[in-house]
Amino acid sequence: MFQGASKSYLNRKSVHKIIADHAAADGDGLKRALGWASLMSLGVGGIIGAGIFVLTGTAAANYAGPGVMISFMLSGLACAFVALCYAELASLIPVAGSTYTYTYVTLGEIFAWIIGWNLVLEYAAGAATVAVGWAGYFNRVMQGLGIHVPPELTTAFFADPTAHGAPPGAVHGLFNVPAAAIILLLTALLVRGTSESTLFNNVIVAIKVTVVLMVIVFGAAHIDHANWSPLIPDNTGDFGTFGWSGVVRGASVVFFAYIGFDSVSTAAQEAHNPQRDVPIGIVGSLIICTILYIAVAAVATGVVNYKELGVPDPMALVMDRTGVSWLAWAVKLGALAGLTTAILVLLYGQTRIFFAMAHDGLLPPIFARLHPAWRTPAVSQILVGVVVALAAGLLPLDILGEMVSIGTLAAFALVCFAVLNLRKMHPEIARPFRAPGIPWLPIAGILSCFALMAALPLDTWLRLLIWTVIGIAIYLFYGLKHAKRLN
Ligand code: ALA
Repeated sequence: MFQGASKSYLNRKSVHKIIADHAAADGDGLKRALGWASLMSLGVGGIIGAGIFVLTGTAAANYAGPGVMISFMLSGLACAFVALCYAELASLIPVAGSTYTYTYVTLGEIFAWIIGWNLVLEYAAGAATVAVGWAGYFNRVMQGLGIHVPPELTTAFFADPTAHGAPPGAVHGLFNVPAAAIILLLTALLVRGTSESTLFNNVIVAIKVTVVLMVIVFGAAHIDHANWSPLIPDNTGDFGTFGWSGVVRGASVVFFAYIGFDSVSTAAQEAHNPQRDVPIGIVGSLIICTILYIAVAAVATGVVNYKELGVPDPMALVMDRTGVSWLAWAVKLGALAGLTTAILVLLYGQTRIFFAMAHDGLLPPIFARLHPAWRTPAVSQILVGVVVALAAGLLPLDILGEMVSIGTLAAFALVCFAVLNLRKMHPEIARPFRAPGIPWLPIAGILSCFALMAALPLDTWLRLLIWTVIGIAIYLFYGLKHAKRLN
């Protein structure tokens, strides 16, 4: 199998070539239309999703109690280390492949493949996760309208109705139909070609931020301080179930809520002044979301006892407790709108990463084939849509969310490593933005990613291992033979 391919699996792309190709293409390239405010709005739009609207409740009910506030602080700090590393790489190698390309440059082909394969967890599994969150709010809207949908058709087949933190009266599910349906609907839109205007994005971002602010402002008046005591409930005897270990496990769960700040790095080619504006966009959106998240966690655990928060729509529950019915409705509808675009962007992103990998020969050409009239990767989009819909219909939210987090954390650790490695290999290249505190900042980033990964349940590690083994097998049987090594 390795015949004639000696060490080619460690082939690296040349950073100089990527930068030169990019500079050559710049004249007829994308329009530089984004300032720092638009980039920040892009980041906030990518970040706010199912994490804050759903997983805050899961993490508080199952792992951290009101200490979920501290979980958000810890996770936000880890992301800050990573975000500064992203800012350096995005201004140095401003290409759409993002983490996949950075790894191709620093560690070589097989590692780039593994990262690309792990990005499937961030994007495809991420889309499935957000869709399950969307379904939770959708079901509550149906209930509110008096429409009865059998619970077997809104619950994942593999969800455990007896699990700690499962909603009261949980049944054994067959298939989460609303979650799969929204994925297929959005897939159809993406196949046909969706032009996302900045205006549309900004309106949805405004809706999401307004909903989050409503939870904070209206909820704050209904906080019962008794709900915050004890801030960190006693550990039950199991690692990760309350106590400080629960706070750390909570941090690894709510890490999902921060995913998306990296999307700003993919817009480097469209920024007026990427050296200054991309770092501001990445770090600024992260700061805004960290503050909002800590405030939401404080309000949610202050208004409702953490034991009750393990429901599919915890923010609607918090608003219900204010006694003002239009507030709960506004939050449900706002969450639905916000989560819809999050799913759309993740499904879109997944096929574009496959497109880049197929372009490099690591995936079959069908993933790079465009529909002749619609100019979209239609076949790839449909394949992705069907697989993601099946995952969303069959798997419960916590398993999906944890898979997304572990895959993304592995990718983030490699981004920090890439910063260290490139500073050593290519100190001569001008770095428009330099991450501060080298080498300590990337080292802190790597260690915090590993700490958050370590806090995830053992099952999640096993699933990551199986996922990686499948990925390596695909590489050995396909990518190793077909990679186009043109550098
Ligand atoms: N951060 C995104 C969310 O919470 C992925 O949905």
